[in-house]
Amino acid sequence: AIDIEKLRGATGAITLDPGYKNSGSCKSEITFLDGEEGILRYRGYSIEDLADKADFLEVAYLLIFGELPNQAQLDKFENDIRKHTLVNEEMKSILEGFPKTAHPMGVLSSLTSALTAFNPKSVNVENEKEMYDAVCKTMGKFLVIATWTYRRRMGFPLNYYDNTKGYVENFMRLMFEIPTQPYKMDQKIVDALDKLFILHADHEQNCSTSTVRIVGSSHAGLFASISAGVSALWGPLHGGANQAVLEMLEEINNNGGDVAKYVLKAKDKDDPFRLMGFGHRVYKNFDPRATIIKKAADDVLDALGVDDPLLDIAKQLEKVALEDEYFKSRNLYPNVDFYSGIIYRAMGIPVEMFTVLFAIGRLPGWIAQWKEMRTNKEPIGRPRQVYTGSPSRSFKEVNQR
Ligand code: ACO
Repeated sequence: AIDIEKLRGATGAITLDPGYKNSGSCKSEITFLDGEEGILRYRGYSIEDLADKADFLEVAYLLIFGELPNQAQLDKFENDIRKHTLVNEEMKSILEGFPKTAHPMGVLSSLTSALTAFNPKSVNVENEKEMYDAVCKTMGKFLVIATWTYRRRMGFPLNYYDNTKGYVENFMRLMFEIPTQPYKMDQKIVDALDKLFILHADHEQNCSTSTVRIVGSSHAGLFASISAGVSALWGPLHGGANQAVLEMLEEINNNGGDVAKYVLKAKDKDDPFRLMGFGHRVYKNFDPRATIIKKAADDVLDALGVDDPLLDIAKQLEKVALEDEYFKSRNLYPNVDFYSGIIYRAMGIPVEMFTVLFAIGRLPGWIAQWKEMRTNKEPIGRPRQVYTGSPSRSFKEVNQR
C-alpha cells in the first residue's frame, strides 16, 4: 500500500498550472472581476460608477482602507500624502547616474527601491500607524519620482509638489512646468487623467500585483515590493502594452493604414507579432475598462480639439479583428491598453511615459494588496514545481567531462 504520509513528506500533491491560469493564490476582499460577464468592482462598487463619480484619491482610499472616505477622512488622507511628497535630495544623484536615454520604467523601479535606503522605517511595518505612514509616503513620493524620470530624460530641472494643488493636477505640473514657461493647466486633461488612473487602480491578482504580494510575503518592505511590481508591469504583455499599442498604431499609419494586413500578421503562428492591446487572461467577453476608455478617447480628443489619425486606425483595427474568426474563436477583445495611449498622446504625454502612468494609477491597488497580505499574515509565497531534469548522476572531474 502507498504510504500517503511518506509521500506528503517528500513532495505532497502538486498541481501543475503554468501561468497560474486556474490557481488562486489568496483570498481577497479588494477587487471582484467576472471575466465572462465583463464585470469589475472595487470593494463592491462598479468601475463604471467609480470612474463616473469618484476621484482618484477617493478610490485609492477605498482600495487601501476598504470604505469610501467621508470628507474629513479624504482631507486628512490628501494632507498626509502631501506631507510626504518631499524626496531626499540625495536621490537626485542616483537619478543623475542614469543615462538620459534610460527607459523611465527602469529608472522608476530603481528609484522606488532606493527610497528604502532613505526611509528605513518603511521597511518594518509593525503596527497600524506605521502601515498608514508607509501608505502615505509611498503615495506621495512615488508620484514625484515618477515624474522625475521624465524630467531627467528631458534635461529639465526637477519640480516639487505644490501643496495648493490636487494630486492629479500635481502630476501634470511636475511633468511639464518649467521655470521659463508657466504651465497652463487644462481641467479637461486633469479630469480625464483622473478617470484613467481610476480605471487602472486595481485588477486583482495580475502579474505585477502578484509580484508585489509575493515579494512582500517575505516581509520585504513596501518600497521594495512596489519596485518589483514596477518591473513586472513594464513588460509588453502587461502594462508595457500601452506603449506597444501606440508604436503599433504609428507603424500601421506610417505604412499606409492597411489594418487588415496587421490582423493577418497577428494570426500567423510563424510570426511573433501580436495585436497589442488585444486579449486578456481573464476577460473573455469584453474588458469593461476598454469600453469606458474608448468613449473617453472620443470625448477627450473632441474636447481638446485633437484630430488624431491613430484613433481612426484603432477603431478600424478593432472592427476588422472583432469580425475575424481567429479573434472571435479565441475571445480576443481590446483591453484597457488599447485606447489609453491615444488619450495620453492627445494630452501631450510622451510615449515612453505611458507605462509610468499605468504604474501611478496601479499604485493604490499594489498598496492595498500588499497591506491585505500583511494584515492577513499570509505565509511566504513559494510555488512548487515538477522536476523534469536529469536523474541522479555521479560527479565527473573536469578532465573527464
Ligand atoms: N494577438 C494575436 N493572437 C493572440 C493575442 C493577440 N494580442 N492574444 C492572444 N492570442 C492568441 C494566442 O496566440 C493563443 O492562440 P492559440 O490558442 O492558437 O495558441 C490564444 O490567443 C490564447 O492566448 P494566450 O497567450 O494563451 O493567452 P494568455 O491568457 O496567456 O495571454 C495576454 C493573455 C498576455 C494578454 C495576450 O492576450 C497578449 O499577449 N496580448 C497582447 C499584449 C497585451 O495587450 N497585453 C496587455 C494585457 S492587459 C494588462 O496587462 C493591463
